[in-house]
Amino acid sequence: MALKITVIGTGYLGATHAAAMAELGFEVLGLDVVPEKIEMLQRGEVPMYEPGLEELLRKHVAGIEGSSGRLRFTMDFAEVAAFGDVHFVCVNTPQKHGEYACDMSYVDSAFAQLAPHLTKPALVVGKSTVPVGSAERLARELAAAAPAGVEAELAWNPEFLREGFAVKDTLHPDRIVVGVRSAHAEKLLREVYAGPVGEGSPFVVTDFPTSELVKTAANSFLATKISFINAMAEVCEAAGGDVVKLAEALGYDDRIGKKFLRAGIGFGGGCLPKDIRAFMARAGELGADQALTFLREIDSINMRRRGQMVEMAREALGGGSFLGKRVAVLGATFKPDSDDVRDSPALNVAGQIHLQGGQVTVYDPKGMANAGRLFPTLAYAETAVDAVRGADVVLHLTEWREFRELDPAVLGEVASNRLILDGRNALDPTVWRAAGWTYRAMGRPSA
Ligand code: UDX
Repeated sequence: MALKITVIGTGYLGATHAAAMAELGFEVLGLDVVPEKIEMLQRGEVPMYEPGLEELLRKHVAGIEGSSGRLRFTMDFAEVAAFGDVHFVCVNTPQKHGEYACDMSYVDSAFAQLAPHLTKPALVVGKSTVPVGSAERLARELAAAAPAGVEAELAWNPEFLREGFAVKDTLHPDRIVVGVRSAHAEKLLREVYAGPVGEGSPFVVTDFPTSELVKTAANSFLATKISFINAMAEVCEAAGGDVVKLAEALGYDDRIGKKFLRAGIGFGGGCLPKDIRAFMARAGELGADQALTFLREIDSINMRRRGQMVEMAREALGGGSFLGKRVAVLGATFKPDSDDVRDSPALNVAGQIHLQGGQVTVYDPKGMANAGRLFPTLAYAETAVDAVRGADVVLHLTEWREFRELDPAVLGEVASNRLILDGRNALDPTVWRAAGWTYRAMGRPSA
Protein backbone atom coordinates (compact mmCIF):
# COMPACT_ATOMS: atom_id res chain seq x y z
CA MET A 1 0.00 0.00 0.00
CA ALA A 2 1.30 3.42 -0.91
CA LEU A 3 2.23 5.62 2.05
CA LYS A 4 -0.20 8.33 3.06
CA ILE A 5 1.39 11.65 3.80
CA THR A 6 0.37 14.67 5.83
CA VAL A 7 1.93 18.11 5.88
CA ILE A 8 1.49 20.27 8.98
CA GLY A 9 1.88 23.98 8.27
CA THR A 10 1.11 25.22 4.76
CA GLY A 11 3.33 28.29 4.42
CA TYR A 12 6.06 28.51 1.83
CA LEU A 13 7.66 25.25 2.71
CA GLY A 14 4.53 23.27 3.58
CA ALA A 15 2.34 24.30 0.64
CA THR A 16 5.15 23.47 -1.76
CA HIS A 17 5.97 20.20 -0.03
CA ALA A 18 2.33 19.09 0.01
CA ALA A 19 1.87 19.81 -3.70
CA ALA A 20 5.17 18.11 -4.53
CA MET A 21 4.22 14.98 -2.56
CA ALA A 22 0.94 14.79 -4.51
CA GLU A 23 2.93 15.24 -7.73
CA LEU A 24 5.11 12.28 -6.69
CA GLY A 25 1.94 10.19 -6.55
CA PHE A 26 1.05 10.15 -2.83
CA GLU A 27 -2.30 10.85 -1.20
CA VAL A 28 -1.67 13.99 0.84
CA LEU A 29 -3.55 15.78 3.61
CA GLY A 30 -2.31 19.28 4.48
CA LEU A 31 -3.12 21.00 7.77
CA ASP A 32 -2.98 24.59 8.87
CA VAL A 33 -4.40 26.42 11.88
CA VAL A 34 -5.27 29.54 9.85
CA PRO A 35 -8.73 29.09 8.28
CA GLU A 36 -8.12 31.67 5.51
CA LYS A 37 -5.07 29.77 4.31
CA ILE A 38 -6.97 26.50 4.15
CA GLU A 39 -9.85 28.11 2.26
CA MET A 40 -7.45 29.55 -0.32
CA LEU A 41 -5.55 26.32 -0.77
CA GLN A 42 -8.80 24.40 -1.20
CA ARG A 43 -9.60 26.71 -4.10
CA GLY A 44 -6.14 26.00 -5.53
CA GLU A 45 -4.82 29.46 -4.65
CA VAL A 46 -1.46 30.18 -3.04
CA PRO A 47 -1.15 32.86 -0.35
CA MET A 48 2.17 34.05 -1.85
CA TYR A 49 3.82 34.50 -5.23
CA GLU A 50 5.91 31.49 -6.17
CA PRO A 51 6.42 30.54 -9.81
CA GLY A 52 4.72 27.23 -10.75
CA LEU A 53 3.24 26.54 -7.32
CA GLU A 54 -0.34 27.47 -8.11
CA GLU A 55 -0.30 25.31 -11.24
CA LEU A 56 1.02 22.36 -9.25
CA LEU A 57 -1.63 22.81 -6.56
CA ARG A 58 -4.47 23.05 -9.07
CA LYS A 59 -3.20 19.88 -10.68
CA HIS A 60 -3.79 17.94 -7.45
CA VAL A 61 -6.23 19.67 -5.10
CA ALA A 62 -9.41 17.58 -4.72
CA GLY A 63 -12.53 19.25 -6.06
CA ILE A 64 -10.75 21.23 -8.78
CA GLU A 65 -11.83 20.18 -12.25
CA GLY A 66 -9.36 17.87 -13.92
CA SER A 67 -7.18 17.49 -10.80
CA SER A 68 -5.76 14.19 -9.55
CA GLY A 69 -7.69 14.75 -6.31
CA ARG A 70 -4.72 13.47 -4.32
CA LEU A 71 -4.33 16.63 -2.22
CA ARG A 72 -6.79 17.72 0.47
CA PHE A 73 -6.63 20.18 3.36
CA THR A 74 -7.99 20.21 6.90
CA MET A 75 -7.67 22.00 10.25
CA ASP A 76 -8.26 18.84 12.26
CA PHE A 77 -5.25 17.16 13.92
CA ALA A 78 -7.28 14.01 14.68
CA GLU A 79 -8.03 13.62 10.99
CA VAL A 80 -4.36 14.10 10.14
CA ALA A 81 -3.27 11.48 12.68
CA ALA A 82 -5.86 8.96 11.46
CA PHE A 83 -4.93 9.55 7.81
CA GLY A 84 -1.16 9.59 7.66
CA ASP A 85 1.73 7.14 7.84
CA VAL A 86 4.29 9.94 7.52
CA HIS A 87 3.66 13.42 8.98
CA PHE A 88 5.86 16.29 7.78
CA VAL A 89 6.09 19.24 10.16
CA CYS A 90 6.69 22.37 8.07
CA VAL A 91 5.80 25.25 10.39
CA ASN A 92 8.05 28.29 10.56
CA THR A 93 10.66 29.16 13.16
CA PRO A 94 11.04 32.95 13.14
CA GLN A 95 13.57 34.95 15.11
CA LYS A 96 12.40 35.60 18.66
CA HIS A 97 11.32 39.14 19.32
CA GLY A 98 14.25 41.08 20.75
CA GLU A 99 16.67 38.13 20.73
CA TYR A 100 18.81 36.21 18.29
CA ALA A 101 17.35 32.85 19.26
CA CYS A 102 14.82 30.96 17.21
CA ASP A 103 11.15 30.92 18.26
CA MET A 104 10.17 27.25 18.57
CA SER A 105 6.59 27.89 19.63
CA TYR A 106 4.99 26.87 16.30
CA VAL A 107 6.99 23.64 16.17
CA ASP A 108 6.25 22.84 19.79
CA SER A 109 2.58 23.53 19.31
CA ALA A 110 2.38 21.35 16.15
CA PHE A 111 3.94 18.42 18.02
CA ALA A 112 1.77 18.99 21.10
CA GLN A 113 -1.41 19.00 19.04
CA LEU A 114 -0.51 16.01 16.87
CA ALA A 115 1.00 13.62 19.44
CA PRO A 116 -2.13 12.81 21.54
CA HIS A 117 -3.88 11.59 18.36
CA LEU A 118 -1.12 9.20 17.28
CA THR A 119 -2.66 5.89 18.25
CA LYS A 120 -1.06 3.86 15.43
CA PRO A 121 2.58 3.61 14.31
CA ALA A 122 3.65 6.77 12.52
CA LEU A 123 6.77 8.58 11.40
CA VAL A 124 6.81 12.28 12.23
CA VAL A 125 9.35 14.14 10.09
CA GLY A 126 10.56 17.59 11.07
CA LYS A 127 11.42 19.87 8.16
CA SER A 128 11.45 23.22 9.96
CA THR A 129 14.84 24.88 10.55
CA VAL A 130 15.51 24.35 14.27
CA PRO A 131 18.37 24.82 16.73
CA VAL A 132 20.53 21.72 16.96
CA GLY A 133 19.29 19.50 19.77
CA SER A 134 15.61 20.13 19.12
CA ALA A 135 15.00 16.77 17.42
CA GLU A 136 16.40 14.88 20.39
CA ARG A 137 14.00 16.68 22.73
CA LEU A 138 11.00 16.43 20.39
CA ALA A 139 11.53 12.68 19.91
CA ARG A 140 11.38 12.20 23.67
CA GLU A 141 8.28 14.35 24.03
CA LEU A 142 6.60 12.65 21.10
CA ALA A 143 7.08 9.14 22.50
CA ALA A 144 5.81 10.32 25.89
CA ALA A 145 2.71 12.08 24.58
CA ALA A 146 1.62 9.69 21.81
CA PRO A 147 -0.65 6.75 22.75
CA ALA A 148 1.44 4.74 20.25
CA GLY A 149 4.51 5.39 22.46
CA VAL A 150 7.83 4.62 20.78
CA GLU A 151 5.94 3.54 17.65
CA ALA A 152 5.47 7.28 17.07
CA GLU A 153 8.96 7.85 15.75
CA LEU A 154 10.74 11.02 14.77
CA ALA A 155 13.07 11.78 11.85
CA TRP A 156 14.63 15.08 10.79
CA ASN A 157 14.73 16.10 7.14
CA PRO A 158 15.86 19.69 6.58
CA GLU A 159 14.62 21.64 3.60
CA PHE A 160 16.87 23.64 1.30
CA LEU A 161 14.34 25.21 -1.04
CA ARG A 162 14.93 28.70 -2.34
CA GLU A 163 12.10 31.15 -2.82
CA GLY A 164 11.46 31.63 -6.50
CA PHE A 165 12.60 28.05 -7.18
CA ALA A 166 10.57 26.29 -4.50
CA VAL A 167 8.80 23.83 -6.81
CA LYS A 168 11.94 22.85 -8.70
CA ASP A 169 13.99 22.57 -5.50
CA THR A 170 11.35 20.33 -3.92
CA LEU A 171 10.79 18.01 -6.87
CA HIS A 172 14.47 17.88 -7.90
CA PRO A 173 16.44 18.55 -4.72
CA ASP A 174 20.22 18.76 -5.03
CA ARG A 175 20.39 16.53 -1.95
CA ILE A 176 18.06 14.89 0.55
CA VAL A 177 19.32 14.75 4.12
CA VAL A 178 17.64 12.57 6.74
CA GLY A 179 18.45 12.30 10.42
CA VAL A 180 17.08 8.94 11.60
CA ARG A 181 17.32 6.59 14.55
CA SER A 182 16.12 3.37 12.94
CA ALA A 183 16.34 1.39 9.72
CA HIS A 184 12.55 1.57 9.60
CA ALA A 185 12.54 5.38 9.49
CA GLU A 186 15.19 5.34 6.77
CA LYS A 187 13.17 2.83 4.76
CA LEU A 188 10.01 4.97 4.93
CA LEU A 189 11.88 8.10 3.86
CA ARG A 190 13.55 6.25 0.99
CA GLU A 191 10.04 5.28 -0.11
CA VAL A 192 8.82 8.88 0.12
CA TYR A 193 11.76 10.19 -1.91
CA ALA A 194 12.11 7.24 -4.33
CA GLY A 195 11.23 9.56 -7.25
CA PRO A 196 13.93 12.22 -6.82
CA VAL A 197 16.50 9.65 -5.61
CA GLY A 198 15.78 7.59 -8.75
CA GLU A 199 16.56 10.72 -10.79
CA GLY A 200 19.89 11.13 -9.07
CA SER A 201 19.35 13.26 -5.94
CA PRO A 202 21.94 12.13 -3.35
CA PHE A 203 20.36 10.67 -0.19
CA VAL A 204 22.43 11.42 2.91
CA VAL A 205 21.59 9.42 6.03
CA THR A 206 22.82 10.72 9.36
CA ASP A 207 21.95 11.33 13.01
CA PHE A 208 19.65 13.98 14.46
CA PRO A 209 22.19 16.69 15.32
CA THR A 210 24.04 16.44 12.04
CA SER A 211 20.83 16.68 10.03
CA GLU A 212 19.79 19.78 11.97
CA LEU A 213 23.24 21.32 11.52
CA VAL A 214 23.37 20.73 7.77
CA LYS A 215 20.69 23.35 7.25
CA THR A 216 22.14 26.08 9.45
CA ALA A 217 25.66 25.34 8.24
CA ALA A 218 24.57 25.60 4.59
CA ASN A 219 22.83 28.94 5.16
CA SER A 220 25.80 30.24 7.16
CA PHE A 221 28.14 29.31 4.33
CA LEU A 222 25.95 31.08 1.77
CA ALA A 223 25.71 34.17 3.97
CA THR A 224 29.49 34.10 4.40
CA LYS A 225 30.04 33.92 0.66
CA ILE A 226 27.82 36.96 0.09
CA SER A 227 29.39 38.98 2.90
CA PHE A 228 32.85 37.97 1.71
CA ILE A 229 32.26 39.47 -1.72
CA ASN A 230 30.61 42.51 -0.14
CA ALA A 231 33.69 42.99 2.03
CA MET A 232 35.75 42.81 -1.18
CA ALA A 233 33.42 45.45 -2.64
CA GLU A 234 34.29 47.74 0.26
CA VAL A 235 37.99 47.19 -0.44
CA CYS A 236 37.43 47.75 -4.16
CA GLU A 237 35.67 51.01 -3.37
CA ALA A 238 38.66 52.13 -1.32
CA ALA A 239 41.26 50.90 -3.81
CA GLY A 240 39.53 51.75 -7.06
CA GLY A 241 38.99 48.11 -8.06
CA ASP A 242 36.01 46.45 -9.74
CA VAL A 243 34.29 43.83 -7.59
CA VAL A 244 32.32 42.41 -10.52
CA LYS A 245 35.52 41.58 -12.40
CA LEU A 246 37.05 40.33 -9.18
CA ALA A 247 34.11 37.97 -8.59
CA GLU A 248 34.25 36.74 -12.16
CA ALA A 249 37.95 35.97 -11.88
CA LEU A 250 37.52 34.27 -8.48
CA GLY A 251 34.62 32.22 -9.79
CA TYR A 252 36.71 30.46 -12.44
CA ASP A 253 38.44 28.65 -9.60
CA ASP A 254 36.03 25.77 -9.23
CA ARG A 255 36.96 25.35 -5.59
CA ILE A 256 35.40 28.78 -5.08
CA GLY A 257 32.70 28.73 -7.76
CA LYS A 258 30.95 31.72 -9.25
CA LYS A 259 27.58 31.46 -7.49
CA PHE A 260 26.64 33.68 -4.55
CA LEU A 261 29.42 36.14 -5.31
CA ARG A 262 27.13 38.95 -6.42
CA ALA A 263 28.11 42.05 -4.50
CA GLY A 264 25.47 44.62 -3.69
CA ILE A 265 23.17 45.60 -0.86
CA GLY A 266 23.39 42.13 0.63
CA PHE A 267 21.14 39.36 1.80
CA GLY A 268 17.74 39.51 3.44
CA GLY A 269 14.61 37.39 3.50
CA GLY A 270 13.05 35.04 5.97
CA CYS A 271 15.99 32.64 6.20
CA LEU A 272 19.63 33.73 5.98
CA PRO A 273 19.55 36.61 8.51
CA LYS A 274 17.55 34.80 11.18
CA ASP A 275 19.30 31.47 10.62
CA ILE A 276 22.79 32.83 11.22
CA ARG A 277 21.58 34.64 14.34
CA ALA A 278 19.80 31.58 15.72
CA PHE A 279 22.92 29.53 14.99
CA MET A 280 25.08 31.95 17.01
CA ALA A 281 22.57 31.90 19.86
CA ARG A 282 22.48 28.10 19.92
CA ALA A 283 26.27 27.79 19.76
CA GLY A 284 26.38 30.09 22.79
CA GLU A 285 24.02 27.81 24.71
CA LEU A 286 26.23 24.85 23.82
CA GLY A 287 29.37 26.65 24.99
CA ALA A 288 30.71 26.76 21.41
CA ASP A 289 30.07 30.46 20.79
CA GLN A 290 33.71 31.11 19.84
CA ALA A 291 33.31 28.85 16.84
CA LEU A 292 30.70 31.16 15.37
CA THR A 293 31.81 34.65 16.36
CA PHE A 294 32.76 35.17 12.69
CA LEU A 295 29.04 35.09 11.86
CA ARG A 296 28.61 38.29 13.84
CA GLU A 297 31.00 39.93 11.39
CA ILE A 298 29.14 38.36 8.43
CA ASP A 299 25.93 39.87 9.79
CA SER A 300 27.42 43.30 10.29
CA ILE A 301 29.12 43.43 6.87
CA ASN A 302 25.72 42.60 5.46
CA MET A 303 23.77 45.19 7.44
CA ARG A 304 26.41 47.84 6.66
CA ARG A 305 25.69 47.54 2.94
CA ARG A 306 22.24 49.01 3.38
CA GLY A 307 23.61 52.12 5.04
CA GLN A 308 26.32 52.34 2.42
CA MET A 309 23.69 52.38 -0.32
CA VAL A 310 21.94 55.27 1.42
CA GLU A 311 25.24 57.16 1.64
CA MET A 312 25.99 56.46 -2.01
CA ALA A 313 22.62 57.96 -2.95
CA ARG A 314 23.23 60.97 -0.73
CA GLU A 315 26.63 61.56 -2.27
CA ALA A 316 25.33 61.12 -5.83
CA LEU A 317 22.75 63.82 -5.07
CA GLY A 318 25.50 66.21 -4.08
CA GLY A 319 25.81 65.32 -0.39
CA GLY A 320 23.78 66.91 2.36
CA SER A 321 20.16 66.24 2.99
CA PHE A 322 17.56 64.18 1.14
CA LEU A 323 14.94 66.86 1.84
CA GLY A 324 13.07 67.73 -1.33
CA LYS A 325 14.89 65.05 -3.35
CA ARG A 326 12.85 62.61 -5.41
CA VAL A 327 14.15 59.07 -5.26
CA ALA A 328 12.85 56.23 -7.44
CA VAL A 329 13.36 52.75 -6.00
CA LEU A 330 13.15 49.79 -8.36
CA GLY A 331 12.52 46.65 -6.32
CA ALA A 332 11.01 46.01 -2.91
CA THR A 333 11.31 42.24 -2.42
CA PHE A 334 14.40 40.68 -0.86
CA LYS A 335 15.11 38.88 -4.12
CA PRO A 336 13.50 38.59 -7.56
CA ASP A 337 10.72 36.09 -8.42
CA SER A 338 9.21 36.38 -4.98
CA ASP A 339 6.72 38.69 -3.29
CA ASP A 340 8.50 38.32 0.03
CA VAL A 341 9.61 41.58 1.64
CA ARG A 342 10.74 40.14 4.98
CA ASP A 343 13.98 41.86 6.02
CA SER A 344 14.32 43.14 2.47
CA PRO A 345 17.48 45.21 1.90
CA ALA A 346 15.65 47.14 -0.84
CA LEU A 347 12.80 48.25 1.41
CA ASN A 348 15.21 48.97 4.22
CA VAL A 349 17.14 51.40 1.98
CA ALA A 350 13.90 52.95 0.69
CA GLY A 351 12.66 53.36 4.27
CA GLN A 352 15.89 54.96 5.50
CA ILE A 353 15.88 57.55 2.71
CA HIS A 354 12.21 58.26 3.30
CA LEU A 355 12.82 58.75 7.02
CA GLN A 356 15.57 61.22 6.16
CA GLY A 357 13.15 63.37 4.20
CA GLY A 358 13.53 61.99 0.67
CA GLN A 359 10.40 61.58 -1.46
CA VAL A 360 10.67 57.90 -2.26
CA THR A 361 8.55 56.17 -4.89
CA VAL A 362 8.81 52.39 -5.07
CA TYR A 363 7.91 49.98 -7.83
CA ASP A 364 8.18 46.19 -7.66
CA PRO A 365 6.72 43.62 -10.08
CA LYS A 366 5.21 41.39 -7.34
CA GLY A 367 5.99 42.83 -3.93
CA MET A 368 3.82 45.96 -3.90
CA ALA A 369 1.02 44.66 -1.68
CA ASN A 370 3.39 43.26 0.95
CA ALA A 371 5.62 46.33 0.80
CA GLY A 372 2.60 48.62 1.20
CA ARG A 373 1.56 46.76 4.34
CA LEU A 374 5.03 46.98 5.87
CA PHE A 375 5.83 50.57 4.79
CA PRO A 376 2.49 52.31 4.18
CA THR A 377 4.09 55.75 4.23
CA LEU A 378 6.23 55.19 1.12
CA ALA A 379 4.78 56.17 -2.25
CA TYR A 380 4.14 53.38 -4.73
CA ALA A 381 3.91 53.58 -8.51
CA GLU A 382 2.10 51.24 -10.89
CA THR A 383 5.03 50.85 -13.26
CA ALA A 384 8.79 51.34 -13.31
CA VAL A 385 8.38 54.30 -15.66
CA ASP A 386 5.90 55.95 -13.28
CA ALA A 387 8.27 55.46 -10.37
CA VAL A 388 11.11 57.08 -12.31
CA ARG A 389 9.02 60.03 -13.52
CA GLY A 390 10.55 63.21 -12.12
CA ALA A 391 13.18 61.34 -10.09
CA ASP A 392 16.47 62.97 -9.17
CA VAL A 393 18.05 59.56 -8.75
CA VAL A 394 17.02 55.97 -9.55
CA LEU A 395 18.05 53.13 -7.23
CA HIS A 396 18.03 49.60 -8.61
CA LEU A 397 17.66 47.46 -5.49
CA THR A 398 16.16 44.08 -6.49
CA GLU A 399 17.41 42.40 -9.63
CA TRP A 400 14.16 41.54 -11.43
CA ARG A 401 14.50 40.60 -15.09
CA GLU A 402 11.94 43.33 -15.85
CA PHE A 403 14.48 45.94 -14.72
CA ARG A 404 17.24 44.54 -16.92
CA GLU A 405 14.85 44.81 -19.85
CA LEU A 406 13.95 48.45 -19.22
CA ASP A 407 14.87 50.86 -22.00
CA PRO A 408 17.21 53.47 -20.49
CA ALA A 409 16.29 55.89 -23.29
CA VAL A 410 12.60 55.76 -22.34
CA LEU A 411 13.39 56.21 -18.64
CA GLY A 412 15.76 59.03 -19.53
CA GLU A 413 12.81 60.91 -21.06
CA VAL A 414 10.84 60.92 -17.80
CA ALA A 415 13.56 61.14 -15.13
CA SER A 416 14.49 64.62 -14.06
CA ASN A 417 18.10 63.49 -13.73
CA ARG A 418 19.78 60.62 -15.58
CA LEU A 419 21.41 59.16 -12.53
CA ILE A 420 21.14 55.46 -11.67
CA LEU A 421 22.72 53.58 -8.78
CA ASP A 422 22.80 49.82 -9.15
CA GLY A 423 22.59 48.20 -5.73
CA ARG A 424 22.69 44.71 -7.23
CA ASN A 425 25.37 44.96 -9.90
CA ALA A 426 22.90 43.47 -12.32
CA LEU A 427 22.38 46.17 -14.96
CA ASP A 428 24.66 46.63 -17.94
CA PRO A 429 26.63 49.86 -17.36
CA THR A 430 27.51 50.30 -21.05
CA VAL A 431 23.84 50.30 -22.11
CA TRP A 432 22.90 52.89 -19.48
CA ARG A 433 25.90 55.10 -20.10
CA ALA A 434 25.27 54.96 -23.86
CA ALA A 435 21.78 56.36 -23.18
CA GLY A 436 23.28 59.31 -21.34
CA TRP A 437 22.92 58.05 -17.80
CA THR A 438 25.43 58.38 -15.01
CA TYR A 439 25.67 54.78 -13.82
CA ARG A 440 27.21 53.91 -10.47
CA ALA A 441 27.36 50.61 -8.67
CA MET A 442 28.64 49.24 -5.40
CA GLY A 443 32.28 48.20 -5.49
CA ARG A 444 32.89 49.43 -9.03
CA PRO A 445 34.70 52.39 -10.52
CA SER A 446 32.29 55.21 -11.26
CA ALA A 447 33.45 56.04 -14.78
C1 UDX B 1 17.97 30.60 1.30
C2 UDX B 1 18.82 29.40 0.88
O1 UDX B 1 19.44 29.67 -0.40
C3 UDX B 1 17.97 28.15 0.81
O2 UDX B 1 18.76 27.02 0.47
C4 UDX B 1 17.31 27.95 2.15
O3 UDX B 1 16.45 26.82 2.12
C5 UDX B 1 16.51 29.17 2.56
O4 UDX B 1 17.36 30.33 2.54
P1 UDX B 1 16.24 32.21 0.04
O5 UDX B 1 15.96 32.86 1.34
O6 UDX B 1 15.11 31.88 -0.86
O7 UDX B 1 17.01 30.82 0.27
O8 UDX B 1 17.21 33.19 -0.73
P2 UDX B 1 18.63 33.11 -1.49
O9 UDX B 1 18.44 32.80 -2.91
O10 UDX B 1 19.58 32.28 -0.74
O11 UDX B 1 19.06 34.65 -1.40
C6 UDX B 1 19.19 35.27 -0.11
C7 UDX B 1 19.56 36.70 -0.23
O12 UDX B 1 20.91 36.83 -0.67
C8 UDX B 1 18.74 37.54 -1.20
O13 UDX B 1 18.42 38.76 -0.57
C9 UDX B 1 19.67 37.75 -2.38
O14 UDX B 1 19.40 38.93 -3.07
C10 UDX B 1 21.02 37.79 -1.68
N1 UDX B 1 22.14 37.43 -2.56
C11 UDX B 1 22.22 36.19 -3.10
C12 UDX B 1 23.17 38.34 -2.78
O15 UDX B 1 23.15 39.47 -2.27
N2 UDX B 1 24.24 37.98 -3.54
C13 UDX B 1 24.33 36.76 -4.12
O16 UDX B 1 25.32 36.48 -4.82
C14 UDX B 1 23.29 35.83 -3.89
